Amino acid sequence: MMNQLQGEVIAAVAPSSNLGDYETTYNEFKWEDVEKEFSWSTTGRLNLAYEAIDRHVDAGRGGKTALLYSDAERDESYTYEDLQLQSNKFANVLRNLGVSKGDRVFVFMPRTPELYVSILGTIKVGAVVGPLFEAFMETAVKDRLEDSGAVALITTPTLLARVKRDELPELKNIIVVGNDVPTDDGLTDYRSAMSEASSETEIEWLEREDGLIIHYTSGSTGKPKGVYHVQNNMIQHYYTGKVVLDLKEDDIYWCTADPGWVTGTSYGIFAPWLNGATNVVRGGRFSPADWYQTIQKYGVTVWYSAPTAFRMLMGAGEDIIAQYDLSSLRHILSVGEPLNPEVVRWGVKVYGQRIHDTWWMTETGAQLICNYPSLPMKPGSMGRPIPGVEAAIVDDNGKVLPPYRMGNLAIKTPWPSMMRKIWNNPTKYEEYFRIDGWYISGDSAYQDEDGYFWFQGRIDDVINSSGERIGPFEVESKLVEHPAVAEAGVIGKPDPTRGEIIKAFISLREGYEPSDELKEEIAKFVKIGLSAHAAPREIEFKDKLPKTRSGKIMRRVLKAWELQLPVGDLSTIED
Ligand code: PRX
Repeated sequence: MMNQLQGEVIAAVAPSSNLGDYETTYNEFKWEDVEKEFSWSTTGRLNLAYEAIDRHVDAGRGGKTALLYSDAERDESYTYEDLQLQSNKFANVLRNLGVSKGDRVFVFMPRTPELYVSILGTIKVGAVVGPLFEAFMETAVKDRLEDSGAVALITTPTLLARVKRDELPELKNIIVVGNDVPTDDGLTDYRSAMSEASSETEIEWLEREDGLIIHYTSGSTGKPKGVYHVQNNMIQHYYTGKVVLDLKEDDIYWCTADPGWVTGTSYGIFAPWLNGATNVVRGGRFSPADWYQTIQKYGVTVWYSAPTAFRMLMGAGEDIIAQYDLSSLRHILSVGEPLNPEVVRWGVKVYGQRIHDTWWMTETGAQLICNYPSLPMKPGSMGRPIPGVEAAIVDDNGKVLPPYRMGNLAIKTPWPSMMRKIWNNPTKYEEYFRIDGWYISGDSAYQDEDGYFWFQGRIDDVINSSGERIGPFEVESKLVEHPAVAEAGVIGKPDPTRGEIIKAFISLREGYEPSDELKEEIAKFVKIGLSAHAAPREIEFKDKLPKTRSGKIMRRVLKAWELQLPVGDLSTIED
């Protein structure tokens, strides 16, 4: 299948990027050469927090700015040495509470310096970090803490109200960051504990295969899956930070993602600090004025964001851009959903920069298929595999397909940052590797004759709204808890700004009548119980939902209704 955009190419902008000549680097690349950077090449052990922070201090770069933080109330700057001392203290706070290697420690709070210190300190004691997005509500929080068997949680007084402590017997300690920390059993006041803790600590030296982080993410069936990553990830975080983000010594780098999502950890924490860059964190919500102000204020040079944000900035128009000095920008990147060629062209026009698409997933741990400053760009394409990684389009039997044939986007196993398990669920893990030698992503794509990959869609029912991945099952499960809802089926409906929005088809219980008020009430029920981003933006009531004979709601039929497409094979439908 030939894409109509195939012919369009935007020339390389920085032939002197860290990657150099793509073909040569790709052909000569060895992961062993990258691994030499870190302490295991001399000691046989490592710790990501050490490699990201303390290593720079030991090399005499402790005075360099590591973190520039601002929100509506705070405006702060931290050097590498500041972060070393703070994370040492936090490691001691955790140790005093009995936390040790391999324990799961979750963070549930907004982007603040304390969040970053908590994550680094957790890694220093060898515990496994579990980031939770601050918008998660009771059920979402409980599911994740319960499944992972988290023993400690760092949160704020406001968010603490969403943690069902009496239903989580393994969660022994909660560290609360903020004023007026209640003095209940099991609660620790972050500030007083930090002020008493020593700023020296013993780093827990780890093996490459020891745990690092669990990110919960959605599939098309079942509860969210705990994607488990190990310390070894850092090789790829470091390398892609160098050749994809193109980070250099003087860069001021801003990744707009929250650490509740994988982009906010792999590229909001690990990649920039492993590369010794200055990392910008802006707290608070999206607003075009705020974002441009952030770029101007700090002189951001490398900026990593997402298509929905770029589309919203595009919607905000060009007048606002003229009010800010954005001339510091030299490299812009995007991830999370398909990046429209129109947005790329607009970026060239208004920022004077190509926006470089990157493709990867929570499960892959780091970037895999990317556009690079030194490669010509075909707008609409995700780019080419990073050196050290082989990607292909395979059919359902694992046969590699020729150019322009659509199929499963697959990655040759293994690569350094590949997930090592799905927590508590080996069966789900194996599904990804069902074709020998390949990781099957669940995305469909094709490759062109120059080796560029073109995203076509998801193969399963997973919804991607504003770059956030939503499992329809989780939303449906919440919907049917509402007293008016008999059955619910949830799909992603195409949307010009958000990529997709969540649409729910609902059949009502006896005694309930369809109304706009009821729609609103049901949407709010999901928002309060699960999270704002999981709440349906559209609801349609139906007398009956299409189901298989075994009782499974047929989402593909709902989708066909919505898009006014043929419904296809209905041989398994109930009646
Ligand atoms: O469908 C692909 C889409 O996002 C999915 C992964 O979502 P998540 O694990 O939440 O990670 C997002 C950030 C790493 C993929 O299976 N996706 C991600 N990047 C792109 C994309 N779709 C199109 N183009 C991309 N560049």
